[in-house]
Amino acid sequence: MNQRVFDFSSFPSLATERLMLREITPEDVTALLMHFGNPEVVKFIAMQPIKTIAQANEWLKWMGGFFAAKDGLRWGITLQDGTFVGSTGLHLWNREAHYAQIGCDIAHKFWGNGYGQEAMREIIDFGWNQMKLNRIEAEIVMGNQASIHVMKKLGFQQEGVLRQRLLKGGKFYDVLIFSVLRQEYRGDS
Ligand SMILES: CC(C)(COP(=O)(O)OP(=O)(O)OC[C@H]1O[C@@H](n2cnc3c(N)ncnc32)[C@H](O)[C@@H]1OP(=O)(O)O)[C@@H](O)C(=O)NCCC(=O)NCCS
Repeated sequence: MNQRVFDFSSFPSLATERLMLREITPEDVTALLMHFGNPEVVKFIAMQPIKTIAQANEWLKWMGGFFAAKDGLRWGITLQDGTFVGSTGLHLWNREAHYAQIGCDIAHKFWGNGYGQEAMREIIDFGWNQMKLNRIEAEIVMGNQASIHVMKKLGFQQEGVLRQRLLKGGKFYDVLIFSVLRQEYRGDS
């Protein structure tokens, strides 16, 4: 077993049967604008639909900041032909307690193809094997049924409710906390 812990020396590109997971670059900003400009995609995440390239650049800078700070990674997800279909990441890496938080967003027109599950399976394996995680968490806004369904399929279980944890558009939302532990994870679940 590889005992080395991921050290952020270079961005780790990954591949699944149908998808490429790679660093998000300034060349992706138009795709990011289309993606996060869709109200369906951001309905249950802590942002409003973006409207400008400048906002897409801000998102990119924010995500790149996690890698620079060495506490998280956000991969862009593409099809084999390079079509941008979304992003996924492991964030808030706590090295002492060996946990991190997972997130994923798939462009609206690609929903329901299994891409979210396929991409997250890959980075969950990265979390266990390269980051030596013991626990991976997910925070899901109550009502985000697709996300709840996907996380349960990946083997996550709900632990509790963070009451009124998210303030968005002047309204507070309850957030569900899910997790999976290394010892219970089944990659093929
Ligand atoms: C959550 C998300 C990433 C899933 O991506 P995806 O590629 O469509 O996911 P998959 O195709 O792998 O799986 C979708 C599953 O959810 C199910 N599903 C879709 N809508 C659903 C709903 N409203 N209620 C219950 N299940 C639903 C699908 O039937 C499918 O299940 P199956 O594999 O058993 O057939 C995508 O919906 C998304 O980007 N949402 C917006 C961003 C977001 O909210 N991210 C989560 C933040 S925690």
